[in-house]
Order: sequence, then structure tokens, then C-alpha cells
Amino acid sequence: MSYFTINKDKCKRDGICVSECPRLIIELKDDSSVPTPVTYQDKEIEKEKIAKLIDIARYSPTGRNSQMVKWLVINSREMVYSMAGMTIDWMRYMIKEGNPIAASFRFGDVVKTWDTGHDIICRGAPGLVITYAPQEYAAAYVDCSIAITFLDLAAPSFGFGTCWAGFFMMAASHWPPLQQSLSLPEGHSCFGAMMIGYPKYRYQRLPLRKKPDERVRSFLIIATELMARSMHNCFLS
Ligand SMILES: Cc1cc2nc3c(=O)[nH]c(=O)nc-3n(C[C@H](O)[C@H](O)[C@H](O)COP(=O)(O)O)c2cc1C
Repeated sequence: MSYFTINKDKCKRDGICVSECPRLIIELKDDSSVPTPVTYQDKEIEKEKIAKLIDIARYSPTGRNSQMVKWLVINSREMVYSMAGMTIDWMRYMIKEGNPIAASFRFGDVVKTWDTGHDIICRGAPGLVITYAPQEYAAAYVDCSIAITFLDLAAPSFGFGTCWAGFFMMAASHWPPLQQSLSLPEGHSCFGAMMIGYPKYRYQRLPLRKKPDERVRSFLIIATELMARSMHNCFLS
């Protein structure tokens, strides 16, 4: 079964869908001019813009206003790529150990794709923004996730494209060589990571979404339900 159909009248055969497909499942037959997958432009991110973004994100809510979230910016394509490579090393180790996480997250497929020359860990991003906090802080994961989500939402206003770096985050929690490279202060861990750069392509519309499974309970309905329930109980007793 096909996941989507191509409108042959509209298709320009420019190879952008092949280049952009995050799963690398699209192929343009009989054409050797398809660009290799590149998600970001070859343009560095300006330190001042990142500082402004973090200045917005620092207003995100934190548990008990603890404001424990700290930021680390990796502003070098080479360094980000090297850390993506360390994430792959961790995945290879997990596969070798037969760790069930490797099977459930299909590390085998990820490593195979990396070995064909595609960086599907950090997608060739020129930057990585990391949120970290003390390991013993109970709301570290939530606070760091909210803070990086604020940054994610603000980033397009600065012309940036972002993507969660979940595989990187997993490796950063477990793999000593990556932890040494990050050199976070003693007792701290990475709880959020976002790839950042200038996107190569702009999309015409938002991704499709299912309709929300939502229920609204108004006070009146709850009050009526409670009354009905207590009357029912009266009759029974
Ligand atoms: C917690 C989290 C971790 C993610 N980790 C990665 C990742 O490591 N690499 C990647 O390319 N995309 C990553 N993504 C992006 C998802 O793959 C993407 O959001 C998903 O394919 C759904 O696509 P959407 O953008 O239409 O929602 C992550 C997303 C989330 C929310």
C-alpha cells in the first residue's frame, strides 16, 4: 500500500520531496540529478539571534518558579555532526548489547541510513540548542521541555527551522563520550535538544493532523450530572 499518491500533472520532478523526506522513502526513478538530502542552508546561525531566542524562551514557566533551566548552544556544524556520530556509536553499542531500546526505536535502521552517508540524527544542522538542569531537580525534564518548546515556537519568526533532537537526547543521557563532549557542570543532565538552522525549503501548509479528541465540561453540565446522581442515590436508599 502506498502512503501517498503523486499527482503526475503537478509534479515538477525537481527532487525536493526526495531531498526533504525525513524517512528517505521517496525515490525519483530514471533521474540522476536528485540532490542529496539537505535540510538546512549552508549558512551559520548568528549568536545575537540565538541570544534573542533564548531571551524569549527564558520566560517559560518552571515548577515553583525554580528557574533551574540552563542553556548550551553548539554553534558549529562540524561539532554538531561529530556529536551525531557519537549518538550513532551509542546506538551501535546498544544493538551489540541486545538492549530492548535498540529494537523498539529501530536503531538498526537508523545506523544503516547513517552508514549510507545521511545524517538522520541532526540532519546536517549548523546548530543545536540544549536545555539542561540538575539531575536531582524533580521537574527538570518538564521544565527543560517547556523551555525548548518556547524556543521552537519563536524560532520561525527569526527565519529559523527547528527539529527536536530526540535520538541525541537519549544518547546524551547514557553515552559517556558524548557526555564528556558536552561537559555539562557536575550533577547536571541534558533534558532537551533542538536542531536549529536556516531551512533550505519553505512549506506551503502545516502538516496534516487528526481532528482533536476533545471534550468540554462546563460547570452547568457537571452540576446537573451530580444532582442527577445524588437523586438516583436517594431513590435507591
Ligand atoms: C520528543 C521528540 C523527539 C524527536 N526526535 C527527533 C530526532 O531525533 N530526529 C528527527 O529527525 N526528528 C525528531 N523528531 C521530529 C519528529 O520525527 C516529527 O515531529 C514527526 O515525524 C512528526 O512530524 P510532524 O512534524 O508532522 O509532527 C522528534 C520529535 C519529538 C516530539
